[in-house]
Amino acid sequence: MTVKKIALVTGANKGIGFETCRQLARLDFTVLLGCRDRDRGVAAAEKLRAEGLDVEPVRLDVTDSKDIGRVRDKVESEHGRLDVLINNAALSHPEDSANPNSCATVSMEALRATFAVNFFGLVELTQALLPLIRKSSAGRIVNISSILGSLTLHSDPKAGLDQFRPFAYDASKTAVNMFTVHLAALLKDTPVKVNSAHPGWVRTDIGGPDAPLDPVEGARTGVTLATLDEHGPTGGFFHMGKTMPW
Ligand SMILES: NC(=O)c1ccc[n+]([C@@H]2O[C@H](COP(=O)([O-])OP(=O)(O)OC[C@H]3O[C@@H](n4cnc5c(N)ncnc54)[C@H](OP(=O)(O)O)[C@@H]3O)[C@@H](O)[C@H]2O)c1
Repeated sequence: MTVKKIALVTGANKGIGFETCRQLARLDFTVLLGCRDRDRGVAAAEKLRAEGLDVEPVRLDVTDSKDIGRVRDKVESEHGRLDVLINNAALSHPEDSANPNSCATVSMEALRATFAVNFFGLVELTQALLPLIRKSSAGRIVNISSILGSLTLHSDPKAGLDQFRPFAYDASKTAVNMFTVHLAALLKDTPVKVNSAHPGWVRTDIGGPDAPLDPVEGARTGVTLATLDEHGPTGGFFHMGKTMPW
């Protein structure tokens, strides 16, 4: 009998996270679908269960330490380990995203709210689950970052990011990338792999209606990094199999 792998995806009631749950469940994972609202999480999981997929909702606001503790305890008592963590939940604050370059004006409230979800929540959850990920024979941590976190591309006038400098969002994703690099270095002598993913510009609430990719395509990079074999990379930043500049 093969033992099913367990994955947790945060912010998975819609968009890329929801589709990521579907793709992992189709690969025979047991998927814990994280959502900060219980009812919306149940409704999202029901849709995937109706497709015959093994998906269970878990209430998880990544800014709530109590939620994080409860999810850790649940995974520990029911599964004893976690094979895949996809840190997908994120916030694009309206005040930040309305401005093509918000660094001189973004409020501390918007900056703090963005970092609370995109960075502090991601780090706290990962720290809490790391002992369970270390118990997996092939733990995989995927941090859903963004091209907008790339210092190299933001410094390149030819990269075309001039109109895309929402400072709070971009800085939070740069910080996520640093966490990827440091955590991968910490875990380099273990089977655990840690990578950042740029999903592409995807039609979701964050990406907006004009984005060229649909969520099916947007979920691919994260799912590929979640299912790397033992020869796969760690400590990298990828989009659709290609390395992204930091
Ligand atoms: N779409 C793009 O073009 C694009 C490009 C680059 C990177 N990304 C990244 O891709 C990931 C998924 O975004 P998306 O495009 O799929 O956007 P989305 O549809 O808006 O999904 C964002 C998800 O994060 C959840 N979330 C927000 N705050 C949370 C919190 N405190 N705790 C738990 N969950 C929370 C949202 O829940 P609610 O429904 O409750 O708000 C939602 O489920 C994000 O990390 C984003 O930065 C997206």
